[in-house]
Amino acid sequence: MPLGETETPRWLRWPAGDRPRFAFGADYNPEQWPRHVWHDDVRAMRAAGVNIVSLAIFSWARIEPAAGEYDFDWLDEIMDLLHEHDVAVDLATATASPPPWLTSAHPEILPVDRHGATVWPGARQHWRPTSPIFREHALRLVRAMAHRYAHHPALAAWHINNELGCHNVYDYSDDAARAFRVWLRARYGSVDALNRAWGTDFWSQRYSDFAQVLPPRQAASHPNPTQQLDFKRFSSDALREHLRAEREILRAATPQVPITTNFMVMGETSGMNYADWAAEVDFVANDHYRHPGPQSLDELSFSANLVGNLAGGRPWFLMEHSTSAVNWQPVNLAKRPGELARDSLTHVAHGADAVCFFQWRQSAAGAEKYHSAMVPHAGEESAVFRAVTALGRTLADLAPVAGAARRPARAAILFDWESWWVSELDSHPSSRLRYRQEALDWYSAFLALGIRADVRPAHAAFTGYDLVIAPILHVVPAALADRLRRYVEAGGHLVTTYFSGVVDEDDHVWLGGYPGALRDLLGIHVEEFGPLLDDEQVVLDSGAIGTLWTDRIEVTGPDVTVLAAYRDGAQAGRPAITRRRVADGSASYVSTRLGADGLVPVLAQLSEAAGLASELPEPLRGKVELAVRDGYHFLINRTDEPVDLTGLPGTPLNDAGDLLPPEPSPYAPPPPPPTPHPITPKPSSI
Ligand code: GLA
Ligand code: GLA
Repeated sequence: MPLGETETPRWLRWPAGDRPRFAFGADYNPEQWPRHVWHDDVRAMRAAGVNIVSLAIFSWARIEPAAGEYDFDWLDEIMDLLHEHDVAVDLATATASPPPWLTSAHPEILPVDRHGATVWPGARQHWRPTSPIFREHALRLVRAMAHRYAHHPALAAWHINNELGCHNVYDYSDDAARAFRVWLRARYGSVDALNRAWGTDFWSQRYSDFAQVLPPRQAASHPNPTQQLDFKRFSSDALREHLRAEREILRAATPQVPITTNFMVMGETSGMNYADWAAEVDFVANDHYRHPGPQSLDELSFSANLVGNLAGGRPWFLMEHSTSAVNWQPVNLAKRPGELARDSLTHVAHGADAVCFFQWRQSAAGAEKYHSAMVPHAGEESAVFRAVTALGRTLADLAPVAGAARRPARAAILFDWESWWVSELDSHPSSRLRYRQEALDWYSAFLALGIRADVRPAHAAFTGYDLVIAPILHVVPAALADRLRRYVEAGGHLVTTYFSGVVDEDDHVWLGGYPGALRDLLGIHVEEFGPLLDDEQVVLDSGAIGTLWTDRIEVTGPDVTVLAAYRDGAQAGRPAITRRRVADGSASYVSTRLGADGLVPVLAQLSEAAGLASELPEPLRGKVELAVRDGYHFLINRTDEPVDLTGLPGTPLNDAGDLLPPEPSPYAPPPPPPTPHPITPKPSSI
């Protein structure tokens, strides 16, 4: 049985029965160190305020040195040592990286890429999600782990595998082909239905038997787009099946211990449809790493916000981020003073109740030896360790906040994995379109205006929101079109963009003109897309600059206002941004890429028309991000300069002065929050 919806996860109340407090810690890889270091570790963990570690993530080869033979002594010892020092354990099932004995005995568990090349051992996660042999060995290990540690007093949570799909989401092997066919049979029932959905009368692709169907391996030209879409769906589902298989063993052994796996809601990781996965875990956990660039902080907030929404307002766990540099970007920048705490607290502001890092002690050997950690190569006498220890104290000060639900905003950005996948497929009007970037640009514009917005999966309820932005909502099944129409008719304000509404769930074009399923609601008609070349741009009569895309728009519906028109280019004189009034609601369309800065005035106008205003005093807008958890306002400095908060009502909860209790609200009284999802009741002990 899954844990109850409102139950406080055990890692949040630790030891059992205690008041909630923030979990703070890291991945811990003691097998990389001699025993005497373990004693240094637990002492330094206490000094830093660490109260939880993720253990055994990459320990398979140590735990099971030969098939079915286990060596738990070292793990027992470290579990006991951690427990003696009041450090709880988020215990991994250890299945992430199969050991050499397994891959030499069974090379048929190794993934195969689209060209048919084997993905060899030598790194990690070299396993096929659909391999029955891998599954058998992995589940035997999970059973052994569950049996061994079910009643260990340090066990606070189970950590399934690690970053499922980080390196192995797309496998084109024969195992994958077999499992894909099973998945397709379940989806379509008959080969005729598959032929219809995949449009196989195109290029003579008609199948007469499921046995003929393959993953979209390297082909002579563009592979069938619906085959590609279904393979993406299938690949996400196949990993989710693995998650479920491990989870069922753990649930049976330890029904009282919450189970998670670490998602990767960040950057360009698109393969796992986490909107589908979130309900599979007892609490949502995420890993996040920042990339340098002008929108680095915005992306941090965007990801944290999306994870908070995936978690449905319940406490979630930041399983990994970095204290400083990573080792896998082209150039790996160290964090500047203050960035470590700011990044961590941004996650906290969006509902994280655990703040953990990769990893505790920086490795001396291996591929991640130049990746930062809580204890760097320099040791405890270091700026990084001092910043870590200071963060531990801050989190201890913030203990009353732990468990408080993230408070929904009045605006939402819809985030849809299938639109992400399909809008970026090959053989399209432009290969330059970037789904997540467009969504992030809108989010940046909200941040610049100081207006809070939630980033939410498209299937989640949005009826409580006054303003819904649906950037590049490309895949619009009839049911979603219907929900959007009802939302607008009920007084909601919808904004969508270029290449939205174009196809249904089979990636078939909605006929009659674009934007297909949303055409009537928007009151516009587009006969041809007008993508732009890389060095092309268009000027709107507002002075705004558009890139990437334009549309040849005709206004067809009633009550449509042209908010901006093209001044030059092939569409000169035609509408660029339209807004249709529908009763008390509206449906707007932005037909070009305006970028984060260019969207600010457009969003300001659309927000005002939707009755939305910033909750921040004017001088703070754009400079700080406001995020709200029940009972607390977080103000996150987005600049490199100090921001003056004097004069604001409320009392800072910590010396940094960046957390203020809102009762009474220091800002313009917020309107009643929408209740699009159930809010976890605040634990009574706060
Ligand atoms: C991922 C993995 C970790 C580590 C970090 C490095 O998040 O889960 O094991 O490799 O990346 O950034
Ligand atoms: C070639 C092919 C056609 C079609 C066009 C598209 O000419 O013969 O079948 O694919 O390219 O440009």
